[in-house]
Amino acid sequence: MKDAAPQPIYLSDYTPPAYLVDQVHLTFRLSPDRTRVISKIGFRPNPDAQGREFFLHGEGLEFIGAMIDGIEISPDITPEGLRAEVPDAPFTFEAEVEINPAANTALEGLYMSGGMYCTQCEAEGFRKITYYPDRPDVMGVFTVRIEGDAPVMLSNGDAITQGAGFAEWHDPWPKPAYLFALVAGDLVNHPDRFTTRSGREVALNIWVRPGDEGKCAFGMEALKKSMTWDEEVYGREYDLDIFNIVAVDDFNMGAMENKGLNIFNSSCVLSTPETSTDANFERIEAIIAHEYFHNWTGNRITCRDWFQLCLKEGLTVYRDSQFTSDMRSAPVKRISDVIDLRARQFREDNGPLAHPVRPASFVEINNFYTATVYEKGAELIGMLKRLVGDAAYAQALDLYFERHDGEACTIEDWLSVFEEVTGRDLAQFKRWYEEAGTPRLKVTDDFREGTYTLHFSQETPPTPEQEEKHPRVIPIAVGLLGANGDEVQKTCVLEMTQAKQSFSFDGLASRPIPSILRDFSAPVILERETSNAERAFLLAHDTDPFNKWEAGRALAREGLIAMVREGAAPDAAYLDAIRMVARDETLDPAFRALALGLPSEDELAQSLHEMGHTPDPQIIWQALEALRNARAENIEGLARDLYARHQVSAPYRPDADQAGARALANAALAMISRMDGGALAAKQFESADNMTQQLAAWSCLLQAGAGEAATRAFYDQWQEDRLVIDKWFSLQIVHASPEDTADTAARLATHPDFNIANPNRFRATFGALSMSPAGFHHASGKGYRVLADWLIRLDPLNPQTTARMCSAFETWRRYDQQRQTLIRTELDRILDTPGLSRDTTEMATRIRGV
Ligand code: TRP
Ligand code: ZN
Repeated sequence: MKDAAPQPIYLSDYTPPAYLVDQVHLTFRLSPDRTRVISKIGFRPNPDAQGREFFLHGEGLEFIGAMIDGIEISPDITPEGLRAEVPDAPFTFEAEVEINPAANTALEGLYMSGGMYCTQCEAEGFRKITYYPDRPDVMGVFTVRIEGDAPVMLSNGDAITQGAGFAEWHDPWPKPAYLFALVAGDLVNHPDRFTTRSGREVALNIWVRPGDEGKCAFGMEALKKSMTWDEEVYGREYDLDIFNIVAVDDFNMGAMENKGLNIFNSSCVLSTPETSTDANFERIEAIIAHEYFHNWTGNRITCRDWFQLCLKEGLTVYRDSQFTSDMRSAPVKRISDVIDLRARQFREDNGPLAHPVRPASFVEINNFYTATVYEKGAELIGMLKRLVGDAAYAQALDLYFERHDGEACTIEDWLSVFEEVTGRDLAQFKRWYEEAGTPRLKVTDDFREGTYTLHFSQETPPTPEQEEKHPRVIPIAVGLLGANGDEVQKTCVLEMTQAKQSFSFDGLASRPIPSILRDFSAPVILERETSNAERAFLLAHDTDPFNKWEAGRALAREGLIAMVREGAAPDAAYLDAIRMVARDETLDPAFRALALGLPSEDELAQSLHEMGHTPDPQIIWQALEALRNARAENIEGLARDLYARHQVSAPYRPDADQAGARALANAALAMISRMDGGALAAKQFESADNMTQQLAAWSCLLQAGAGEAATRAFYDQWQEDRLVIDKWFSLQIVHASPEDTADTAARLATHPDFNIANPNRFRATFGALSMSPAGFHHASGKGYRVLADWLIRLDPLNPQTTARMCSAFETWRRYDQQRQTLIRTELDRILDTPGLSRDTTEMATRIRGV
């Protein structure tokens, strides 16, 4: 028999905490397998509470003893926590527990990574460290004493004393327990300084394992740029005398914004030109900014409860995307973000895991750190800004920071600052937070006597547990072009609020060509009957870079869909259009590289499903291959020209200009390699002095079936570098033929360098499998089997990462009956595993449905 289904918790059940925390004193006596944690916490009754039960969360703790106001107590201890009788007045609670960091493979709470102690407390990991009200609306001032023999021992806030065998830290800013952090180990630092605009001198450090100190310089520059940017754009200054970043190799996600002590997955902070790609550099810069920006949007103003996660994540993603747009190219950033949104968030929103940006219930909160909460959450902020305008946005943010500093807030608090500043009623806008699903925005048009009218209708399909959807307010940015390509109407924002609504433009001499949803002004699926001629026209003439790119994307998608459905030949209109864009030297090379990109296999499967067809992953893959081959043949000469023209001769810099040139040259190399069997790629592989060039060349060689020597050489060169070896694992799987994808993943999982306990290596291997649709969805079912085998093995070690990776199966209902049966069998097998974690149980159950 299975255990009873884990119980969901509901937003509507929120009640304020019974007791509030003032001061927290923690002492850690570190030892890998028996760390003592001694706590002394000042509590007082919450005047706003509805009850007086004293409950502290605590999981997997060995209870040693507890006292209230110095008198020993015998609390009632359950697997979830501790209950005790307490006075109806302020009191001091003390406890001593023992924990085993060395046995902690879940990487939540206090654990060991490569001999170093580190913590991860968001969302509910602090309860694995000691007994505490582990909820974000309880904020306390922490003082931490660490006793141990590690050379470096860090916690939040400012260092107060360091001595032989101990260190003491004090964080003056009240914070929820999820922002607590401790790190201890043999670490070296890359130090720097920053002076805030009001004159505070801040010591900056990036702490790494000995040997990695040469990989911090770029991250440090990114940190300083982020600090300056937040002062200039949001008026936000840093608020402690020290800011520490630590790199750890074993980490479940990207990075964590603990107050004054950010902890990073080493893949998201360490870099050198030789070992990191341009894409890695851009991502590192964005994640450093993201975690830094959390200091205000997340830490100074935090979430009342975990249902409000998008309050900090949506806003912080929005802020980091603004930062990247300012540091690099705004159009390129926007296009990349939309590619990512469609690939991950639309996929989620249109499947069994769909949930609102602010969910109303959850079983395991770790399963809600999703593309919907993060990326769609950020889109909502972009829409809000577009609706109220830049000036009102800035005013509303100032009011938000002023009014809510030091508080744990809700989406209602957030929206009300906008309502106050603008006088607008945002009740309809709030539906974006409460209703899941991607709206379909249909549009038709007509032209009569100089008046051009756009007729819109919106509809959102039902999502799990939300049958009924209501019309939302949708900002639709529109521009109009004349037949000669001139813009006859500059971008304006139409505010759609009804299910059906029309907007007219008068005084036009002739029927214009509309450019709709410019800059992707709302996260919707735009449906419009149009022609390839019109798409090609917009690709050539649209002044909005996003819609220019989008027109090319649509041309490619339509052509591919015809190839898949009717066995059509590659579309000549697409080939002509793309040739024109590629050779247009007035366009940013990075933009041209994006325009040469093709919709992914998964995006095509999603489109076909949307159109009522059953996608066949094998046929989609073949169509893409056929188009790539035809394109290479068609523009080989141009590709050679582009390759030559966009070689970078200056010393490597990871900036947007150089990265754009390399992206375009490498897109050209991919085409050339389809014609020359990899000859040019082999040369580039030999001569590359940076990872971008080396990896691109190796991947072209793998693609051309000529990668064996390079695969060996790459391993020999980089076997000591964990992050590069992750690339070695994943690229072999990504470029295996669909027949071999699953076998390659299974084989690499037996390689001596495979390590199930390291999430980066596990994802490099099995993330690559699940993101290679033709191989993953192999008709034999072997892709599904291999993934399920390994998820079942990982679950007892690391439930959080296992659960996240179950989303590989979330699209199963799109596929044919045989594949559905095969996937269902694997989902059942996962769910039948004895002792399956709550995390994975929730994910597999939601994906399978009932
Ligand atoms: N708050 C982190 C961020 O987005 C993400 C996060 C949540 C996280 N839970 C985590 C990171 C667990 C690592 C491990 O910035
Ligand atoms: Zn975040």
